[in-house]
Amino acid sequence: MNHETRGRLTKDGIRIYDQADFAGMHAAGRLAAEILDAMGAHVFVGQTTGEIDRIITAMVEEAGAKSATIGYKGYKHASCISVNHVVCHGIPGDKTLKDGDILNIDVTVIVDGWFGDTSRMYVAGKLPRKAERLIEVTHDALMRGIEAVKPGNTFGDIGHAIQAFVEGHRMSVVRDFCGHGLGRVFHAPPNVLHYGRPGTGAVLEPGMFFTIEPMVNLGRPETKTLADDWTAVTRDKSLSAQFEHSVGVTEDGVEIFTLSPNGTFHPTYG
Ligand code: MF3
Ligand code: CO
Ligand code: CO
Repeated sequence: MNHETRGRLTKDGIRIYDQADFAGMHAAGRLAAEILDAMGAHVFVGQTTGEIDRIITAMVEEAGAKSATIGYKGYKHASCISVNHVVCHGIPGDKTLKDGDILNIDVTVIVDGWFGDTSRMYVAGKLPRKAERLIEVTHDALMRGIEAVKPGNTFGDIGHAIQAFVEGHRMSVVRDFCGHGLGRVFHAPPNVLHYGRPGTGAVLEPGMFFTIEPMVNLGRPETKTLADDWTAVTRDKSLSAQFEHSVGVTEDGVEIFTLSPNGTFHPTYG
């Protein structure tokens, strides 16, 4: 069976996968999470983002998997590494991490045709207090969003849960990027907005697979994309953070495909 015929589509064009497909997503999600688990040891002052990406590339190969990002719309790397005021899609390179830098590492792998997409925050050296608050709020916002995932709720419920939590902490939700359906493809309907109103948007059904990946800024929500056509930064240069899980809607709630096997997804440092 190929990806065009698997499961069915809702009237909103969202694919409903079969029960058996959860196992494929679980395997892909686990590999992506294992790779992020291993990155804790490779983030330190003086390290380059390019070296981190090379390690990720090697781990994907060693696992017999494929990187979803290498060759995606001309992107050349196995990860996006977004430092400080970079919101997302930071390109790994010669940049050296300095004390107090915070960074998001985002990895998407393909295992047996299934996509696993996850990202989380790291720190080089000592975590500044303001960055710690931002990271905590962003992590907890993602988890609030995930708590809203169950059949009968809507995508607007997810967005609202995230937005209300973030704005309650006087931080802002980025509007220019969103989560996405995934499964046998990288980016599929729906757009999973990280803001919204309760009860709006498509209704969640068992068998939907998608990411939730809120980006939160300490300052204003606006972003701009640099001349490299990838790197998105905060317009006001304020710090930005992001966490991402790939999830599936089950009969009674949610399965998180990208849970950390070693329990280091949550940012408890030292
Ligand atoms: N992993 C990112 C996401 O969460 C997409 C990265 S696409 C790339 O959807 F080309 F920039 F790598
Ligand atoms: Co994603
Ligand atoms: Co991602």
